[in-house]
Amino acid sequence: MLVSATEMLQKAVEGHYAVGQFNINNLEWTKAILLTAQENNSPVILGVSEGAGKYMTGFKTVAAMVSAMVETLNITVPVALHLDHGSYEGCYDCIKAGFSSIMFDGSHFPIDENIAKTTELVNAAHHLGLSIEAEVGSIGGEEDGVIGAGEIADPNECKMIADLGVDFLAAGIGNIHGKYPENWKGLDFDALARIKELTGDLPLVLHGGTGIPSDMIKKAISLGVAKINVNTECQLYFQEATRKYIEAGKDLEGKGFDPRKLLAPGFEAIKTIVKEKMELFGSVNKA
Ligand code: 13P
Repeated sequence: MLVSATEMLQKAVEGHYAVGQFNINNLEWTKAILLTAQENNSPVILGVSEGAGKYMTGFKTVAAMVSAMVETLNITVPVALHLDHGSYEGCYDCIKAGFSSIMFDGSHFPIDENIAKTTELVNAAHHLGLSIEAEVGSIGGEEDGVIGAGEIADPNECKMIADLGVDFLAAGIGNIHGKYPENWKGLDFDALARIKELTGDLPLVLHGGTGIPSDMIKKAISLGVAKINVNTECQLYFQEATRKYIEAGKDLEGKGFDPRKLLAPGFEAIKTIVKEKMELFGSVNKA
């Protein structure tokens, strides 16, 4: 059964670790992440961007696939199915489709509009037992067409959004989607500490988990980050393993062209990186 992400993230705040959100693109991604979570006895959040949702033919397909897979694979660790950077309409679509968690990204709206829309969606989500994430400031870079300038979140605005009853909050602190540039300044821990001071025990979310050095991840967790999103790194691991398979000519040997064989190295590579992240975030054996 899918669960909201509220309880697993409150436990993470109390236990000083973070739960990984790993974005899914297809069956292989979903299966690899679910199996890795189960093998490591870790709670997990499956993230779905609006672009990935469309690619998989819609949120309804995604919810049906994930729910069925959790059941047939006997996954007993807590699993939340979460909309990543949702639009206002996308949030309602996911609520209807059977997601257990949504993110409303109103960071590009003026704060008053972000507050109004977030308030409405908090009520809609909580009415049906879903958890909801909101965003203040913005995550730099681009993910599936969602582009952010990378402003550092204003701690007072974070407090205003936190007070609306959101279950966890993404606050821009210099994090970027995709690979970090050579001249990246790093995370703004002063901003994170100020946000934490004003938002108390509200779980904070670190987007752009790909490529953030381990020491910064650990420091962010010590300052209240309880959910870390990883997307690009799984894609890079999948790509690298698939490239090696083809460059070694394995697709030309016997039935190496069989998609189940062709996609197997990428599948295993996703399992490897997800396990590594769960160990780094401290969520192993926390299910
Ligand atoms: P990365 O692609 O940089 O890992 O970011 C993922 C993310 O923040 C999803 O919202």
